[in-house]
Amino acid sequence: LSNAADNRVLITGSGAREHALAWKLAQSPLVADIFVAPGNPGTAQIATNVSLSAADAGGILTFVRDRNIDLTVIGPEASLAAGVQDVLRSAGHAVVGPSAAAFRLEGSKALAKQIMAAGDVPTAAYASFDDVTEARQYVAGCDLPVVVKVDGLAAGKGVTICHDRDSARRAVDEALADAAFGVAGSRILIEEFLSGPEVSLICLVDGENVVPFPLAQDHKRLLDGDAGPNTGGMGAYSPVPFVAPDGVEQLTELTVRPVIRQLAEMGTPYRGVLFAGLMLTEHGAKVLEYNCRFGDPEAEAILPIMTDDLFPLLKQVAVGRLSNQPVRHDGYAAAVVLAASGYPASPRSGDRIEGMDGIDNGPLIFHAGTTLSAGEALMTAGGRVLAVVGQGSALATALDQAYASPVAFAGMQHRSDIGQQALAWLADRQAPNASTDHSPEMATDLPRIVVLASGSGSNLRALVEAQQSGNLQATIEAVVSHETGAGSLEIAAAAGIPRYVVEIRSRRDPAARDVHERKLAKLIDDLNPDLVVLAGWMLILSPALLDRVGCPILNVHPALLPMEEAELIDIPIIRGARAVRDAIQLRVPYTGVSVHRLTADVDAGPVICRERVEVLPADTEESLYARIKPVEHRLLVDAIRRFTEPSRRLVNV
Ligand code: GAR
Repeated sequence: LSNAADNRVLITGSGAREHALAWKLAQSPLVADIFVAPGNPGTAQIATNVSLSAADAGGILTFVRDRNIDLTVIGPEASLAAGVQDVLRSAGHAVVGPSAAAFRLEGSKALAKQIMAAGDVPTAAYASFDDVTEARQYVAGCDLPVVVKVDGLAAGKGVTICHDRDSARRAVDEALADAAFGVAGSRILIEEFLSGPEVSLICLVDGENVVPFPLAQDHKRLLDGDAGPNTGGMGAYSPVPFVAPDGVEQLTELTVRPVIRQLAEMGTPYRGVLFAGLMLTEHGAKVLEYNCRFGDPEAEAILPIMTDDLFPLLKQVAVGRLSNQPVRHDGYAAAVVLAASGYPASPRSGDRIEGMDGIDNGPLIFHAGTTLSAGEALMTAGGRVLAVVGQGSALATALDQAYASPVAFAGMQHRSDIGQQALAWLADRQAPNASTDHSPEMATDLPRIVVLASGSGSNLRALVEAQQSGNLQATIEAVVSHETGAGSLEIAAAAGIPRYVVEIRSRRDPAARDVHERKLAKLIDDLNPDLVVLAGWMLILSPALLDRVGCPILNVHPALLPMEEAELIDIPIIRGARAVRDAIQLRVPYTGVSVHRLTADVDAGPVICRERVEVLPADTEESLYARIKPVEHRLLVDAIRRFTEPSRRLVNV
């Protein structure tokens, strides 16, 4: 990447998001000129507006070529849907925006669901339909409420939350029978209804590496208290205080990186800005949707608190490699959207905007639906007119600054409760008698695990290393072995983890097993973990013991187990303690690793994750095991992280 200071940047779009992007890029010492196509009166003050539509791929290509543009940043959906990014990229120009193929993550909700399933990303359960009769039958019997979503792009519409069967049926009919959304609605998804606070996770992605911005929270409904119709977004603030500081990284790992890996594997790597709309449910974070661009109004709150130079990061997205450093930021910003009379149904244009002068030391003002009249007066010209952005070291200060703005116009609508959920949380936290449920420590209180391991301990070592590097998201409380000489005990000792031996006098004598299990159950009871992990425990745990252990138990097994009872897999299922040797003897073409929940049926509980390992003709038990072990180590850490759902503890509201 060149560090030349004479870079020329083009931004497509005309909203407050694009104004905020231009404002941020204008601060970069590496940027000499900024153009915005088509821009608005706000961008005209800091950049050069170009009278080209954001969707005019041919016109934009000619402009980029003629004006030697070094980097084009795609702002709105319309540019992406028109394929502007592909046209530029195939002509050899640097552009921030995913290919049309990767953009399908936003363009087809059904495809997004498939990609999420393949990457094990948590999301609402759903069924998809293109047949109206089947969909009607489904809503006649499904749990309520449900969410009916059209598969394709519907400009922010096409999502209906249905609290009763009549409205569900109407939503189904609207899309499938009446074609109210055209082809975008020829397929629908009917999803389980989720509840919890929503947050926006926006990341830069270079095809492989992912750099998250601080979290933001949008306010989608028109009116205070989340009432009224849905809008493009009435305000946002960033960062989100009720998510623990390490939460952004955890959420990125849970909801963005797996999807980026899937897209790369599909041959359609994602290069651009990815927005994950998340709901922090009581069962952990779940993805509501992906958008392939900056959120608006989130960008207006995130970019002002960002302390890094945005230009090199965007350039790396387009042509280089991103480092995996999260974006640095400072303080809070809060954006309050001022919307026109009649928004969102039928916004009125032509109201004169007052109060814009003399606010030099006040909030930032990003333009969206504004225009200059012949007499150079600023007038409303769209639904969302302006975003007023306050900043401060505290969220309350940022909000105060935004709300103190004198900017106004006839019929102006805005919400007066932006950021209230976060303010209430902060106030509660600072109260002297704050309940422990809301204490900030809750958010970093990691689940406690007890590891049962009687082997060489290589899986235990992987867990210890993951814990030390902060990747496990759990604390290893104790290690238990049934063999005194087990390697696992040495590893525990070296790591300073308490270790226990519960010996078994004879494996074959039922009375001896009983004694052993009682001791084991008592020990686990006393340790009171959130999760027990079997990492090379060569005894079968009896149903009575499973009953006594009050938390889930995971087991790593060196073969492929079926994902569910009825699943057919095309190789013999290998259970039991000699799985690797059996794989060689059975001459299976591949075996693998499974991590599953322990149930009374041996090696048959629900599989959390599994991966194939090929069996080579020349393999011995030893050589095959040597390839299986590293897969076990990776999957076991993965399964623990997934199972304990770190994001579940992120919400303290
Ligand atoms: C692992 O391969 C694990 O899958 C297996 O014991 C080994 C322990 O290795 N467990 C079973 O076979 C359970 N039926 P380690 O001591 O090097 O972690």
